[in-house]
Amino acid sequence: EGVDQAELETVAFTVENGVAWVSFNRADKRNCMSPRLNRQMMRVLDDLEYRDDVGVLVLTGEGTAWSAGMDLKEYFRETEALGLKGTRGAQRESYGWWRRLRWYQKPTIAMVNGWCFGGGYGPLFACDLAFAAEEAQFGLSEINWGILPGGGAAKVATELTSFRRAMYHALMGENIDGRTAVEWGFVNEALPLAQLKDRVAEVARTLLAKNPVALKATKDAIRRVREMTYDNAEDYLIRAQEAANSFDNEGRKEGIKQFIDDKSYKPGLGAYDK
Ligand code: ACO
Repeated sequence: EGVDQAELETVAFTVENGVAWVSFNRADKRNCMSPRLNRQMMRVLDDLEYRDDVGVLVLTGEGTAWSAGMDLKEYFRETEALGLKGTRGAQRESYGWWRRLRWYQKPTIAMVNGWCFGGGYGPLFACDLAFAAEEAQFGLSEINWGILPGGGAAKVATELTSFRRAMYHALMGENIDGRTAVEWGFVNEALPLAQLKDRVAEVARTLLAKNPVALKATKDAIRRVREMTYDNAEDYLIRAQEAANSFDNEGRKEGIKQFIDDKSYKPGLGAYDK
């Protein structure tokens, strides 16, 4: 594909005992998200998603940051210089991998080892579970340099915490630490940094022992029902479970075979022979 080495190195990963440990790998730039990182992250997510040896994905950061948000130079200044096409292209790439992560096939865990700012809230929310170092710092710093919390960040704050907290957080540009992030609902738990990885590995092991079809159905259900009425949720959940029950349904394959191979019917003119 002709991707240069520097771009490949913006994301690092290892797969161990069923867990893909993926990290933002721009420690010297506090793992801020450049267009190159966004493109490479999509490639890595794509490569790992359906691997049989990956049951859980953990997203963390090299060095002192989880992610210092969008790269103000490469994501904002340099793409804006290319006009609307450049800006929209960069947005598609970042929003694209966050969306991909929100609906990932495998359960995902954000392991927030340090700084988490602005655009970092996109992947934070995209991960199903989140564990932070007590030492980590979370901030909607957009207001501090003069923009609104875009790229989903405002939405993430209001999804995860109360209206008053989200508003204070966004307007004041003050950071909160890992413990406060638990209190506000941004993450599940906070631990001393030295214990963070062991705890995340333990959670991953618990998930790996569960039925993978049920895990995917469950994570999607929890995300989907948030936006539904009670009755719609009830109906969705029945249908999602019934779809999961028939996950290995061979019927469609038979329908294709009778048309393409056997030429015994035409789907445009009638149904296949069950
Ligand atoms: N965009 C571009 N470069 C960045 C970013 C960023 N978001 N964050 C850090 N860097 C760069 C710095 O410019 C510096 O580069 P240099 O070594 O070439 O001079 C390098 O990363 C290290 O940064 P320092 O500021 O020296 O690191 P320090 O550990 O002292 O501070 C901190 C870390 C607090 C995270 C600081 O880097 C910072 O405030 N970063 C910006 C955070 C932010 O507001 N992000 C944008 C959120 S809004 C959005 O995402 C839409």
